Amino acid sequence: MTTLRSRIPGFDAVPTRTIASVNPADLSDTVAEVALLGPEAIVAAARVGNAAQKQWAAVPAPIRGRVIAAIGRLVEANAETLAQLVTREVGKPIAESRGEVQEIVDTCDFFVGEGRRLYGQTVPSEMPDKQLFTFRVPVGTALVVTAGNFPVAVPSWYLVPALLAGNAVVWKPAEYAAASADAMARIFIAGGLPEGLLTVVHADGAATSAGMEAALAQGLLGKVGFTGSTEVGRRIGELCGRHLQSPCLELGGKNPMVVTPSAELDLAVEGALFGGFGTAGQRCTSLGTVIVHSSVHEAFVRRFDAAVRAAAVGAPGGEGASSVLMGPLLAPHFATRYEEYLGWIGPHHTVLGSDGVGRITADNPRKGFVGDAASGLYYHPVIVDGVRPDDEVFRTETFGPLVGITTYDDFDEAIALANAPGYGLSSAIYTTDPTEVFRFRTAIGAGMVSVNNSTSGAEAHLPFGGNGKSGNGSRQSGVWVLDQFTRWQSMNWDYSGRLQKAQMDIEIPPADAGFRI
Ligand code: UN1
Repeated sequence: MTTLRSRIPGFDAVPTRTIASVNPADLSDTVAEVALLGPEAIVAAARVGNAAQKQWAAVPAPIRGRVIAAIGRLVEANAETLAQLVTREVGKPIAESRGEVQEIVDTCDFFVGEGRRLYGQTVPSEMPDKQLFTFRVPVGTALVVTAGNFPVAVPSWYLVPALLAGNAVVWKPAEYAAASADAMARIFIAGGLPEGLLTVVHADGAATSAGMEAALAQGLLGKVGFTGSTEVGRRIGELCGRHLQSPCLELGGKNPMVVTPSAELDLAVEGALFGGFGTAGQRCTSLGTVIVHSSVHEAFVRRFDAAVRAAAVGAPGGEGASSVLMGPLLAPHFATRYEEYLGWIGPHHTVLGSDGVGRITADNPRKGFVGDAASGLYYHPVIVDGVRPDDEVFRTETFGPLVGITTYDDFDEAIALANAPGYGLSSAIYTTDPTEVFRFRTAIGAGMVSVNNSTSGAEAHLPFGGNGKSGNGSRQSGVWVLDQFTRWQSMNWDYSGRLQKAQMDIEIPPADAGFRI
């Protein structure tokens, strides 16, 4: 059994304890033992990052881009092994894991080009013989703390642009996805990153938070990136705020899908099935509530129920996995929490989607289950019809295979319902009426809007991020994430040979203000 240890140059890392990262599809399969470190390891890694970063920032950006290119090619060459490891460690159906690995490649490919752009501007001055410029400057060392539902793709959204822009990274991955993180970091380092630029630190939440606080207080961090729950994001926001930093936060969602009377219902059902139950509902972009017009409610619910009942639940890898829509939950603590969410289902709700609710067992079977349900953290997919705006299940993210349904009569009511929970990550509308598309886009509070497409499955080069309880407005991906990992520096260069004072020493040709034709 491999024990994963953080390697922090010059730091004698003594683990506080060791935990097991277990295959959620087969709880008897320990993927790795993980040696967890204390807060001082985060500080030490940040110090190492600071020492390595200055030299890295001096490497021309196009050359840094060549390192990113090499990383992308190495990820491609290791794609199948990495995808299999992701499936084994977090239970994602293999097709999704392959897509996840592809998302790293896409991110690298995008940022290779950015190494030859990373544009600044030349700006005219208000005075003669003077020129203005802007430059992007790396932030220094970033501490990146990630979740395990996307154990490699989402981390790449931070790592790739941060490194390309000339920063060092300390990466604290989810403990239950530590082996995938370690494998990915080894690929990155093999791509040619100098020592100390990327350090993985395995630690629990409390040690990470204490280490983050100490590193911020010592001025060792230029950015904190966090993907995870709203609750933890709020605490990180407070902590960073005290040190006058704004973190890059990618938090939860209660992503709505509005189904209008003109919608292609089968398409909407397909989108709801993938958005609600792909990744067992454990994406930050997973569908929360379907808001369906009352005139098509019955038809939609009938078809959605049939589709969910027919979907294959079971082993995410191995034989038969290619047909599987939904594997197990990510790890035991997610299963425990999901069971609490199931407790929010009340007597006024109609539960659909499967023959049972809760853990799939011999006594609570799922029709057509692929593999052996007893070996893993498998749960029935659940549709809860009849949710109301004051239900907890309507207002709060239920990370896991649970989709609520509610109805509306008037379009403004649909928008109000879509915004009511106060998150703002992803959203979807199914309609064939362009007016509704634009009314929805204008009024929805979400950072991402899908039209006739599912709430999940964003492409890797569009801005990704949310508002309200889903984030602080920071955006990842594409050129937009560069604003997280660089700061603008402006320069003015006066070659007139005299002191020209802005706003004061300017000459504007006089206008004849009274002139009329
Ligand atoms: C996440 O769940 O944190 O848009 C990210 C999507 C994926 C990323 C999800 N490309 O669903």
